[in-house]
Amino acid sequence: MLLVLGAAPHTVYGDGTGCATAHTERPNTPVEMGCPVEATQCGSVIGSVDSTRQATSEEGYGQQYLSRNPAEWDDVVARVRLDGPDTLVSAARQARRAQREWARVPAPVRGRVVSGFGRLVESNKEALASLVTREIGKPYTEALGEVQEIIDTCDYFVGEGRRLYGQTVPSEMPDKQLFTFRAPVGVAAVITAGNFPVAVPSWYLAPALVCGNAVVWKPAEYAAATARALAELAWRAGVPEGVLNLVYAEGEATFEGLSAALREGLVDKVGFTGSSRVGREIGELCGRHLQSPCLELGGKNPMVVAADADLDLAVEGALFSGWGTAGQRCTSLGNLIVHRDVHDEFVRRLDHALREATIGNPTQDVLYGPMLDRKFADRFEQALAETASHHRVLGSESTGRITDSNPRKGFRGDHSTGLYYHPVMVDGVRADDFLFRNEVFGPIVGVTTFETLDEAVELGNLPGYGLSAAVYTTDPGTAFRFREGINAGMVSANNSTSGAEAHLPFGGNGESGNGSRLSGMWVIDQFTRWQSLNWDFSGRLQKAQMDVGAVEPELDYRLPTELRGHR
Ligand code: UN1
Repeated sequence: MLLVLGAAPHTVYGDGTGCATAHTERPNTPVEMGCPVEATQCGSVIGSVDSTRQATSEEGYGQQYLSRNPAEWDDVVARVRLDGPDTLVSAARQARRAQREWARVPAPVRGRVVSGFGRLVESNKEALASLVTREIGKPYTEALGEVQEIIDTCDYFVGEGRRLYGQTVPSEMPDKQLFTFRAPVGVAAVITAGNFPVAVPSWYLAPALVCGNAVVWKPAEYAAATARALAELAWRAGVPEGVLNLVYAEGEATFEGLSAALREGLVDKVGFTGSSRVGREIGELCGRHLQSPCLELGGKNPMVVAADADLDLAVEGALFSGWGTAGQRCTSLGNLIVHRDVHDEFVRRLDHALREATIGNPTQDVLYGPMLDRKFADRFEQALAETASHHRVLGSESTGRITDSNPRKGFRGDHSTGLYYHPVMVDGVRADDFLFRNEVFGPIVGVTTFETLDEAVELGNLPGYGLSAAVYTTDPGTAFRFREGINAGMVSANNSTSGAEAHLPFGGNGESGNGSRLSGMWVIDQFTRWQSLNWDFSGRLQKAQMDVGAVEPELDYRLPTELRGHR
């Protein structure tokens, strides 16, 4: 089946002739939720199904994009219209209007909406996971895990709807009480990558919505259908119209639209998951508007294998984190840093495991499937060209695209229909090599050696990223010393660099982010601002610092002889 999508919720609203149609088609309309949406919104740019009107209103925009199945390139999963900057601005305007009402819905009720969202995702788990597999080629078991991560995230934030605690704070004056409240930030513009097309968006959506914000979400175009499915489940759970807006646009139009929306004061928070290069541009843009975005960027995640490591365990961890998901997670393993004494044996075992690994059709039981999209395949091929004469290339019979003339042993399915690549392990990587310093989104990992733990930590920090890091050791001292020295937001001991649990702080340092954290209680600080209330019931003006009772200590008092310890 082919989905034909416009910037949602155009197609949600049926024939677009008016609100009545729209409301009878959707059981949980905003009106039923008690969140008023003016009738005029149904005829506004965002609420309209009349895509041609929108396309022509933005000269040069509105071209179609085909989202294809990377395992079967002829399978077009969705046809989308990519809109221009004005659409994003209109969406932000609509979000601004809807947010005020949404913020007045009691937080526990907003939590119930998020609960409904999680339950709907759970009831549609297999369908959604299949769509993830079909649209971005993630192996089905991993796609199921990804959908589970949304459910876990919603489970967590349902409870937050009943907490969102503030504090009662004593005042320095009598008959006065101080409080703190968490206030929603307002409108969040969320821009996400397509490698985790539903889990990562849910890390933004669930907390943003529970905290009383409205969202404009711009997903990756190559995961357009999956994004639409997730948004649809949120709307069906009762997220009101205007509170969640889905916009399809290319990077440049998004940036331009975001700049305009920030200038107009329509966006209060930007959430971005993607490359460090774009993250830096978004950081600069937001900085000019005195905003600090939530940035979740790339990684060159190191795994240190100490001399005392359980080597089989380390091989298993390296295989999953380096080549699982075809190396296309921001938490994927980048550099293996192996103790000199175990290097040869470790590399031998890992090379064997890689050659035995099954690659192929993501609907089957495989280590990894195709690249997410053609642009990732192209970039991966460029990175492959960075292997040099001092490198030893291992892991498969060959490198590059898997084809009839460049086959892979044990390939499952038909390699000719998709963007499949050989796994690559590059031994002998040096600290100044391109492959050591730069994130490569693909099934490739470099190996280098170390002698002392200090050296391993230094190598781990060298590329300047700081997302995830792992150490394999049987000595707790090594694990804790590694944690202390490594500049990563997430550290694993005897586990993979990828696969963070949904309720721990997720985020990085250096090139990997600006210190913001997603998930768990930590993300609440991204989507709320502290507001204090200073309530005086004394009936007079009491001036802080000036009208405060003072107690003077006798600072020259010294303990008398009988109370002194010495005899
Ligand atoms: C990402 O690649 O952007 O920790 C997110 C992990 C997953 C999330 C990855 N839970 O690998």
